[in-house]
Amino acid sequence: MSGDQNPTAPRPSSAASATGDPAVVPQFAPVPAGRARRRYAVVGTGHRAGMYMDAITGPHADVAELVAWCDTNPARMAYYDAEVGRALGLDGPAGLPTYGPDGLEAMVVEQRVDVVVVTTPDVTHADLVARAQAAGADVVVEKPLTTTDAGCRTITDSVKATGRDVVMTFNYRYSPRNSSLREVIASGEIGEVTSVHFEWVLDTVHGADYFRRWHRQRQNSGSLLIHKSSHHFDLVNWWLGDVPARVYASAGLRFYGAANAAARGLGDRPERGTGVVGDPWSFDLTADPRLQALYLDAEQHDGYLRDRDVFSEGITIDDNMALVVDYARGATMTYSLNAHAPWEGYTVAVNGTKGRAELTVVERGVVVIDDRGHVVLDPSATPETQQAKLDAEGIRPEGERLVVQKHWQAAREWPIPAGIGGHGGGDAILLMDVFRRDLRIGDDPLGRAAGYRDGLAAVAVGIAANESLRTGQAVRIADLDLGEKLTVVEPVETTPTDAG
Ligand SMILES: NC(=O)c1ccc[n+]([C@@H]2O[C@H](COP(=O)([O-])OP(=O)(O)OC[C@H]3O[C@@H](n4cnc5c(N)ncnc54)[C@H](O)[C@@H]3O)[C@@H](O)[C@H]2O)c1
Repeated sequence: MSGDQNPTAPRPSSAASATGDPAVVPQFAPVPAGRARRRYAVVGTGHRAGMYMDAITGPHADVAELVAWCDTNPARMAYYDAEVGRALGLDGPAGLPTYGPDGLEAMVVEQRVDVVVVTTPDVTHADLVARAQAAGADVVVEKPLTTTDAGCRTITDSVKATGRDVVMTFNYRYSPRNSSLREVIASGEIGEVTSVHFEWVLDTVHGADYFRRWHRQRQNSGSLLIHKSSHHFDLVNWWLGDVPARVYASAGLRFYGAANAAARGLGDRPERGTGVVGDPWSFDLTADPRLQALYLDAEQHDGYLRDRDVFSEGITIDDNMALVVDYARGATMTYSLNAHAPWEGYTVAVNGTKGRAELTVVERGVVVIDDRGHVVLDPSATPETQQAKLDAEGIRPEGERLVVQKHWQAAREWPIPAGIGGHGGGDAILLMDVFRRDLRIGDDPLGRAAGYRDGLAAVAVGIAANESLRTGQAVRIADLDLGEKLTVVEPVETTPTDAG
């Protein structure tokens, strides 16, 4: 597959390497001779499907095979079918059978599908997970598990009725810096956690992108408090070995959208970004052959516009969000998410009875604009843009730092092991755990593998936050009907490393 130019795609971490550190990269037994590969079908052949397609035709081809596609859009299925043909070294497309959403059950049966990978828009997950399970398949589902309490009930009912597996792909857990913070907390280094402060800023490339397509409508994504923050809330649940108990939220659409643009005097805006020259808010689908093929050339089938203007009408999600979340074991989190920052990254500070840990990550220090006024996704492309990036990075260099300070002691930097590949070095490790979990040698001391209960606990915060926004009141998680109660999972005790 071509290099991923999609601005929603995660960028590689400075700590990522080709091999990875054994502290975070698990070991797997060889595949037993003669064992059949598991048969996978992908439902939702958009951007995210690419990661699974690459994994199944690449490093995990010995344990997995792709057997079918399911999507509403024939052009996107054809795109991936051609990619698989190329990846397998065939003369043309792979020729895998294609199904529409109504044909999901027939696909599972006819193609003897073992596992359905769900990479569709968030609002569709619950129904597709339940239907795939009822038809006889296990499921790998992208975050968020679902967008509503009703969706949670659909999935919990389905798991109980079928006994089928749901793997949640919480890739952020596998990012070594996030694993290291888990290690710090689980080792007892900072004592019992009393509070967490977590701030995430999305920049004017990545953050803006949620305001261009289906995510921009609450009914599709559950808002960024579900779509995006479910990653963050899962991290906190997992770091603390705790579950959320009560949520108060305050949020607003204060930057994107037609009303904000008019109030700031932005003037007339184009309806879509493709073809617009000199406007950094516009997203041109012709700038990347993959985006053009997946979206622009596929529009004729379903009218899905991938490049709508971020200052147009119809946006129903917020761009500034703040929460206070109480956890069952007593800690409190203050959380904020901003979607129009000039840089991208996050800061997490964890206060404990013995000290404090601070994780600071700069994923992109600056959004570089070229001389035509367009956003440059790869600043190393020209000497001028590379220089602009280097100049800007003097103050805010890309990178990550985990600092631990115990009471009465000086602050120390906690080592972050190297991961593999993109997304803070986490995606490749996650995929090993997804495709080779049954071959893993030894348990994961970090407890990174996630199932539907982790998915529930993560979306519970966003669901409660949405209810809090609606009512203006704090919302108790116990008052939501999620199909089952959230339960505290104690973190596994780990031994501090040398730094501890
Ligand atoms: N973990 C991560 O870092 C990460 C990154 C990107 C996306 N995601 C998740 O992956 C999912 C897909 O996101 P994306 O960016 O690929 O979206 P996308 O819009 O690029 O692709 C979605 C695909 O689903 C298809 N589709 C829509 N409704 C369908 C239905 N009912 N049945 C079958 N197909 C249907 C669309 O035609 C499209 O091809 C989302 O849930 C998103 O949250 C996760």
